[in-house]
Amino acid sequence: MSLLEVRDLDVTFSTNDGTVRAVNKISFDLEAGETLAIVGESGSGKSQAVFAIMGLLADNGSTSGSVLFHGEELTHLNDTQLNKIRANDMAMIFQDPMTSLNPYMRVRDQMSEVLQLHKGMSKSEAYNACVSMLEAVKLPDATSVINRFPHECSGGMRQRIMIAMSLLCQPKLLIADEPTTALDVTVQAQIMALLRRVQDDFGTAIILITHDLGVVAGSCEKTLVMYGGRILEYATTKEIFAAPSHPYTRGLLSAVPRLDTETDELVTIPGNPPNMMELPAGCPFAPRCEFAKDICHAEMPELVAHGDHEGLRACHLSLEELS
Ligand SMILES: Nc1ncnc2c1ncn2[C@@H]1O[C@H](COP(=O)(O)OP(=O)(O)O)[C@@H](O)[C@H]1O
Ligand SMILES: [Mg+2]
Repeated sequence: MSLLEVRDLDVTFSTNDGTVRAVNKISFDLEAGETLAIVGESGSGKSQAVFAIMGLLADNGSTSGSVLFHGEELTHLNDTQLNKIRANDMAMIFQDPMTSLNPYMRVRDQMSEVLQLHKGMSKSEAYNACVSMLEAVKLPDATSVINRFPHECSGGMRQRIMIAMSLLCQPKLLIADEPTTALDVTVQAQIMALLRRVQDDFGTAIILITHDLGVVAGSCEKTLVMYGGRILEYATTKEIFAAPSHPYTRGLLSAVPRLDTETDELVTIPGNPPNMMELPAGCPFAPRCEFAKDICHAEMPELVAHGDHEGLRACHLSLEELS
């Protein structure tokens, strides 16, 4: 049994202008301790997919499909049951740490509260555990910073505090939604190194969402490429970089700024992402795909294995047609 099994997960939002189909029939498995990157341009459904998994969708959202976590169907649980799982077994960190930190509480109080509430620790036990965790995420001066309010900490410190807080109950799954986008490049690299260490030390499975394939390269074993609410490619990160099999993945890779070439130009994929209220019947990328055939506009291809590749791809075109 995998740690997480997602099957045919759909997310729709009802709005005054119509129905937004944010996520369309996505399926994937995540094993315990594994690190998965979800990549794709802005608006491709990455955040809503994981919000649906965590049961954290906005009020106008609804889901269908199945999310098995440790064999337990999460889509049938009520808020109380979900809260318990979210407190103990799965945690999420966001781009903006202030989404999870309480601005009116000192770091020590908000961190300790988690352990007193969910692990039944005494105040002093909880305090000691919090200091150790802050030290584990390499926060300098942990015993002093723990007495501050969040606004008295730098962005990088807050991100470490949030990561430490999310790890207090030793979750089996940590979901990080663009955790480094707001930080400068040096701090970004430190936070990514930290997530890797967390995975080594605690055996936590990690889902890392980013629109930047460059961030993924050294950090994640597997990569899932989303576009228009669909999974277009799902493979080992090694394979994605060495032999990307979907035209969209190839486009994303060529959009990574190269430090080793003369030009600092960012090559982007021409065209715009689809309107999620009027998704095309076929592959959502077809209107921007230089290789698209008639069938690409008419029918969404299935996500399947191909040739001697390990990974899965959803594309009507053969690899020969792409070369
Ligand atoms: N509450 C909402 N109501 C309507 N549409 C929404 C809502 N939340 C997100 N969406 C739409 O869902 C789509 C996918 O969004 P999201 O998952 O946030 O993309 P990203 O890949 O950038 O994380 C977008 O078109 C977004 O506008
Ligand atoms: Mg997002």
